[in-house]
Parts: sequence; C-alpha cells; structure tokens
Amino acid sequence: LFMLNKTDELKGKKVVVTAGPTVEAIDPIRYITNRSTGKMGYAIAYEAALRGADVTLVTGPTNLKVPFGIKEAVEIKSSRDMYEAVYSNFKDADILIKSAAVADYRPKNIYSSKIKKKDDDLKLELERTDDILKSMGELKENQIIVGFAAETDDLIENAKGKIEKKNLDFIVANDVKQEGAGFANETNIVKIISRDSNIESLPIMSKKELSKVICDKIIDIIHKR
Ligand code: CTP
Ligand code: CA
Repeated sequence: LFMLNKTDELKGKKVVVTAGPTVEAIDPIRYITNRSTGKMGYAIAYEAALRGADVTLVTGPTNLKVPFGIKEAVEIKSSRDMYEAVYSNFKDADILIKSAAVADYRPKNIYSSKIKKKDDDLKLELERTDDILKSMGELKENQIIVGFAAETDDLIENAKGKIEKKNLDFIVANDVKQEGAGFANETNIVKIISRDSNIESLPIMSKKELSKVICDKIIDIIHKR
C-alpha cells in the first residue's frame, strides 16, 4: 500500500488552496480564460496535506488529478463560483493560499445563444470581476493569507502593492518574463516578499520544492505568533 510520509506540522489546520484558471462564458460555445495549468496550486495542496492539514482545494478546470490526501475538492468555473467557494470556506479556515489565475474581467452579458459571425467587427463589453483575495483580506481575522503575483514588469513594486491592498502575510512573486518561470513550466523562479518588505530571492526550483518553501514559511509564521 502506498504510504504518505506525513508530518503533523499543519495538523488540525484548515488550508484553502485555489488553483488553475477561471473561465468566463461569452456564449454557450466560447469563453475567456487565463493561462494556468493549476500545477502550482495542486503541488501546494498536496504538500499541505502531507504536513497533516485539512485541505480544501478550490479549482478551476485543469487536466490534473486531485492529489491524494486532499480532504475536499471544489470544482468551479467562473470567478464568481470561485468567490463563493472561497468565501464559504474562509471563516473557519486557518490559511488561504491563492495561487489561482482569476479572470480580472468577464463579459458583461452572457449570450444564451451562439453569437453568429457577421462581416463587421464584434465588440465585447467586459466588466470587472470581484477581487477575491482583496475581499478575503478585508474579512481577515486570524487567517494567514498568501497571494501570488505574476508580473512582466516592476515585479517587486507591484507585488508589494498587492500585499498592502489585499492584506496578505506574504506574496509569491513570479517574473514570468524569465525562462523557466511560471505557467506550463515545471519550475518557478520567484521572490517571496513578506509584509515587512523582507525579500527572499529563491533560485530556480520545481513547483514541488517551492511548495515546501511556502509551507515552511507558513509554519514559521504560526510558530512566531
Ligand atoms: N486575485 C483574486 N481575485 C481576482 C484577481 C486576483 O483573488 N479577481 C488574486 C490571485 O489569485 C493572486 C493575487 O490576487 O493570488 C494577485 O493576482 P494578480 O493577477 O497578480 O493581481 P491583480 O490584483 O489582479 O492585478 P493585475 O492583474 O492588474 O496585476
Ligand atoms: Ca489579475
């Protein structure tokens, strides 16, 4: 029998992890989405489960199998679905890790019938989605909140701004312009920036290794409380 090498570092902790993209319908055939495979979030969910946590994985559509040891997996499609799933799990959560790539905009109207092509241009009106992490930051009591940021420019400045705006404990900032970073890659090159502006520049590492670093960092915060 396959045995998990479990520790109890996160035993009794409820950890909510979001993963993958959200998809926003345009009509019954088409949608808008983000580039995300879900690998990072799934790796974190698995690592947290190995440390004994009760993990709720809120996931957009991916090609991945729900990892062994996850307590609950909630499959969602739109950012609104994700908002609801995160919201309903946040109050009794100890830790929220938000690695999902959430759509910032969605079509203002979802057409109930297929949009047929015409000769002229098609204009789609997009509206803002709710910022899930920012909303949870406002509801935060004792939860540890970890955000992600994928940036092409001004990585540190942008990531620091997100810590403040979303009331995060730390952010995992990914410079997606670098070779080997982000998206479909097996590896990430990130900087972990904490509330006190401490910047930890990590070498290129697998998503599994990065998951361990993230869990260690969370455990460290718990110990320092
Ligand atoms: N996020 C979220 N809800 C949204 C958008 C983003 O919860 N509607 C979360 C992401 O899951 C991530 C963090 O916020 O953990 C940062 O996402 P990112 O896209 O980098 O930042 P934004 O605030 O959306 O700003 P921008 O895309 O303009 O850089
Ligand atoms: Ca965004």
